[in-house]
Amino acid sequence: MSGKIFYYTKYGNSALFAESLSEKKEISTVELAVAKKRKGRIGFMMSGYESVRRKKIELINNPWDQVADEKTIYLIFPIWAGNIAPAMRAFILGADFEGKEIIGISLQADPNAGAKIDEEFKTIIRDSNGTVKALYKFHGAGPGDVQDKSYYDKLATQID
Ligand SMILES: Cc1cc2nc3c(=O)[nH]c(=O)nc-3n(C[C@H](O)[C@H](O)[C@H](O)COP(=O)(O)O)c2cc1C
Repeated sequence: MSGKIFYYTKYGNSALFAESLSEKKEISTVELAVAKKRKGRIGFMMSGYESVRRKKIELINNPWDQVADEKTIYLIFPIWAGNIAPAMRAFILGADFEGKEIIGISLQADPNAGAKIDEEFKTIIRDSNGTVKALYKFHGAGPGDVQDKSYYDKLATQID
């Protein structure tokens, strides 16, 4: 199998999903890290605001370096305030996905959240020269909660 998983997580659910998928596909993972971590209640509100406003945020450790040789790219990320979490948007917009197939996987608290991300996901992947192969949307956990790994093992079996 070839491909690579890039994920962003705040509470750990996307990390567990990445681990489950990495085991199933036998491919490696890269965690996106932000320069400024937001903490506590104020941080939660700031994060929601940044997400609604699609604020540009800074990533560290140059994750784009690890995109080059892969044909299939999996992107796992939470939905924040109805939008793609800013760290994942920053990663996508900074990437060159020329010749690559992109599979998005979003996690959210509300099973109906993220209904409007399809259009934006397609647009920003296209802006980064990639092709969307699929976008999966799953219920993750409520803010601050983390599901058991077995939950994500099961979901991972649904990913082509
Ligand atoms: C700032 C912030 C905003 C959020 N906004 C939403 C939302 O609009 N709708 C929703 O269903 N879940 C929302 N959530 C919940 C997360 O999407 C959910 O808990 C997800 O499973 C977290 O993934 P993680 O553990 O990888 O960080 C929000 C969480 C945070 C931190």
